[in-house]
Amino acid sequence: KGLNDLARRAGLLYFGTAVDNPSLNNSKYLSIAYDTSEFGQATPANGQKWMYIEPQRNVFNYTMGDAIIKPAKNNGQMRRCHTFLWHSQLPDWLTSKNYTKTELISILENHIKNEATYYKNDCYAWDVVNEAFNEDGTYRNTLWLWTIGPEYLEYAFKFARKYTSRQTKLYYNDYNVERVNNKSIAIAKMVRDFQRKGVPIDGVGFQAHFKTGSTPSYEEQVASMKQFTKLGLEVAITELDVRTLLPDSAEKQAQQAKDYANTVKACKDTDDCVGVTVWDFWDPVSWVPDVFPGEGVACLWSANYTKKPAYYAVADVLGED
Ligand code: G3I
Repeated sequence: KGLNDLARRAGLLYFGTAVDNPSLNNSKYLSIAYDTSEFGQATPANGQKWMYIEPQRNVFNYTMGDAIIKPAKNNGQMRRCHTFLWHSQLPDWLTSKNYTKTELISILENHIKNEATYYKNDCYAWDVVNEAFNEDGTYRNTLWLWTIGPEYLEYAFKFARKYTSRQTKLYYNDYNVERVNNKSIAIAKMVRDFQRKGVPIDGVGFQAHFKTGSTPSYEEQVASMKQFTKLGLEVAITELDVRTLLPDSAEKQAQQAKDYANTVKACKDTDDCVGVTVWDFWDPVSWVPDVFPGEGVACLWSANYTKKPAYYAVADVLGED
């Protein structure tokens, strides 16, 4: 049995992976990505981001998103859609000009309206807002914050609810929130604030970009997720990977295996943690080496397509009663 089979038997909705457009011409890669016993869910790593979807103002291009979403849908895999609003990977027309608050709110609505309508029946969940907080729990200083103010978050979720289908789960997604810390506490405060004001939100995504040997403990991860499930939200592990300082070794692989398994077990054991998505499954296409020189091998499958100890540790933890 593959990871998705095991995850479903353990009560999760899916075990999934990010897929990026350059991988789509690699048939060996695709034979794993489209194997529904391994992966029951796909997330476009880049294809639905603003710079690709709306490269010119009010000109929409769904080619890159479709290339990931359509085959997953045809294949019976769930889709987590990513992302309406982020501070990164924005088109030049948006970042190189100063818009007024009113203009920027209408640009945001128009973007969400078009993308949400186009993908209306295609997404189990949308990452409506990605990475809006700093480590200390203050709002990240972005063009959204300084032009619109903190209420840009409310606008994004309201627009998302207005234009997605009713069943689509609306998520806030972030990293370094897998412990109870200033950042996750600030997000929980935002959720309570939304609930008081009637702003729609259904879930919180824990990216879980980790480093071998220094991940949050099982207990810390469960405790952080519970901050949100006790408010009635679902949670998910949305971008799991565990990067290693190179060169790799058998010891490091064994540690990485424990780290992966801890996170998957934390989700499995938390009511209302719906699934785990890895931020790609094959080492050579991981984002890690580009951003962290000297680190890598963060995925479940190695360059020669063998399953690493981390794969078997995840399978074991999903298979345990
Ligand atoms: O599109 C250009 C292409 O034209 C050019 O030839 C090529 C040369 O390097 O670059 C391409 O753009 C790259 C883009 O991915 C598409 O492949 C960017 O340089 C590269 O920086 C970008 O990286 C992505 C990163 O987000 C951007 O911040 C990663 O693939 C993607 O995995 C990563 O995903 C993020 C999540 O969205 C949010 N959470 C963190 C996660 C990891 O950073």
